Amino acid sequence: MSLTAKTPTTAPGTTTVQAARTATRREYLMCPPTHFDVVYAINPWMDPSVPVDRDLARRQWADLRDTYLRLGHTVHLVEPQPGLVDMVFAANCALVADSQVYGARFREPVREPEAPAYRAWFAAAGFGEVFLPGYANEGEGDFAVVADLILAGSGFRTDPAAHGEAQEFLGRPVVSLRLTDPRFYHLDTALFVLDDDNVAYYPPAFSTGSRRTLARLFPDAVLATEADALVFGLNSVSDGKNVVVAQAATDLIAQLAARGYRPVPVDLSELAKAGGGAKCCTQEIRR
Ligand code: ARG
Repeated sequence: MSLTAKTPTTAPGTTTVQAARTATRREYLMCPPTHFDVVYAINPWMDPSVPVDRDLARRQWADLRDTYLRLGHTVHLVEPQPGLVDMVFAANCALVADSQVYGARFREPVREPEAPAYRAWFAAAGFGEVFLPGYANEGEGDFAVVADLILAGSGFRTDPAAHGEAQEFLGRPVVSLRLTDPRFYHLDTALFVLDDDNVAYYPPAFSTGSRRTLARLFPDAVLATEADALVFGLNSVSDGKNVVVAQAATDLIAQLAARGYRPVPVDLSELAKAGGGAKCCTQEIRR
């Protein structure tokens, strides 16, 4: 991935020649949904009056973890803390690149106690100092790594000042994107990284300038429908070939298969009641 604008590889009307997709082994951090519940509302998906089937949530989460293991990835677990009902959303705890950990600083006070719990995991796992951010940022909820580049969202949770801070700390270029639709309050609800060259996203979730920026950087991007974005189809996790994706995102699944990726459907309907899907439950550790 380079910052130079690219021209689409396929002209309209020509037949697409499929690239062979390559999976690379990943290392993930997850948090069991032992204390998962919806007891407050900090995004439009959450409604404490709608009951959560916590047993089903646990089974769905276990399926997700087992899916990663089956694909050959490593899954580390952090100890869930009583009372921290959203701690299952491990993606929000940090942004890790080159073994450097840029810590989270939650915008919502109810989630802030998750930050030290996750920092303790990184320290115990030998990552040394976790950067204590000066600005609100919810980790990989609003940061996505595409090869050397970092895409960063703001608009609802992460302070745009955190984008510059992350660039300074990680030494990687950060491209700021602005989210405009409260249903897509984190970047990872509207965009995911397919591989080192490409992403999938839902353009209407972004400001006009951010859409133009994405179109320049990723002229071949997979564009999702609103229906697929609304079932957290873009809250997906790709290893370069296998894409763990919400099973209800049927058009997206077909598009991915047509591009030579291998969709691996999962059902996280109970987690969706808190506003999250597969990616939200998954923090990637990049050594
Ligand atoms: N209920 C959580 C919140 O509103 C959901 C977080 C989902 N995580 C994510 N990476 N999008 O903060």
